[in-house]
Amino acid sequence: MISLRGLYLSQVGQTSDLPLLLEIDRAEGVYIYDIHGKRYFDMNSGIAVSSLGHCHPKVIKAIRKQTERYMHTMVYGEHIQAPQVVFAERLLAQLADNFESIYYLMSGTEATELALKIAKKYTGRYEIVVCRNAYHGSSHGAESLRSDVNYKQSYLPLLPGIKHIDFNNEDDFTDISCRTACVICEAIQGEAGVIGPKNEYLKKLRIRCSEVGALLIIDEIQTGFGRTGSLFAHQKFKINPDLLLIGKAMGGGMPLSGVIGSRKIMESIVRNPALGHITTFGGHPVSCAAADAALEILLSGNIISEVKEKEKFILQKLTTHPIVKEVRSQGLMMAVEITKRKYLKHAVSKAFELGVLVDWFLFNNRSFRLAPPLIISKSELDRACDLLLEALDYAKAQYN
Ligand SMILES: Cc1ncc(COP(=O)(O)O)c(C=O)c1O
Repeated sequence: MISLRGLYLSQVGQTSDLPLLLEIDRAEGVYIYDIHGKRYFDMNSGIAVSSLGHCHPKVIKAIRKQTERYMHTMVYGEHIQAPQVVFAERLLAQLADNFESIYYLMSGTEATELALKIAKKYTGRYEIVVCRNAYHGSSHGAESLRSDVNYKQSYLPLLPGIKHIDFNNEDDFTDISCRTACVICEAIQGEAGVIGPKNEYLKKLRIRCSEVGALLIIDEIQTGFGRTGSLFAHQKFKINPDLLLIGKAMGGGMPLSGVIGSRKIMESIVRNPALGHITTFGGHPVSCAAADAALEILLSGNIISEVKEKEKFILQKLTTHPIVKEVRSQGLMMAVEITKRKYLKHAVSKAFELGVLVDWFLFNNRSFRLAPPLIISKSELDRACDLLLEALDYAKAQYN
């Protein structure tokens, strides 16, 4: 009989020749268990998704309740489904007044797509400015934003009118002009290896966009929902984008994303022509019910306020290791940069062997990623860090 692993490799579409191949049995809290009963600390939260840990009982309860009532009833934008409305009200109450309306989708990539379309329609312009080493998704439109020419080569032609600027470099603002429909920018560059804005960069970017009438789109798909120590990172940096992109942790483990903006901007796709953007499953009622429960949990306890302390704890534990060059952190969004690249692979694979899941970045091959569930306890964090230190010792010992 062919194993599940064999069937997975032969019949389920793959993304690379080197999948992790962890065969999952179940997941609970900060742990993922494989079919052999081995327990792993999920120190990535499935790439910034499981901020409340896996299978939070209140999220599961909300999902159960909603599935028993109804699931899909009609494509997005026709029926009034309470979970969409209730969650929108709870979420928008947490945001500045200009965020009046949310359009629901299923993935971060789709949120990027919609935001670009809205910006083009609203401004009547087509130029898009984006930062080098940003990641906004994987569809044709989102892929057009990538700066890595070698990568894009195979998919040309992509969208015209894309201009790349360097994150944190105000000199590049000259590329933002009255021909620019929008600037799309992560609040903190994630895949570049956790690079935060310096010298009020985002505030200055906001001013530049307003000067030339370009929309400022801030992508908080990875940074949102408490990850960086405030509900959203743009709130911490005190800026107001025109459009906010959210996803990942939003659905409490269920697929859900959104674009948020003023009613005036969001309505630009509603008419002339109507149905400027449509989706069958966007805002799925079960995902919205899960998201509402997740947000209620996030807002009611100390989860977000404890992020800073947990960040400090990890920094204290890891930064003194001899092969750690630096730990870049924004709350519990972290990049551990290693002194020499040759150590990195050993450290990551040893961590895996010891039962700690860390991961790579798309555009930074000197660091590994840490983004534990926000609900991780002090003792769990202590144990996971000790195991990581053991993995780092092992990596160093390979070259002694
Ligand atoms: C900042 C950012 N934007 C967009 C995306 C795309 O989201 P999705 O994978 O849900 O399409 C990601 C995914 O990693 C991301 O980190």
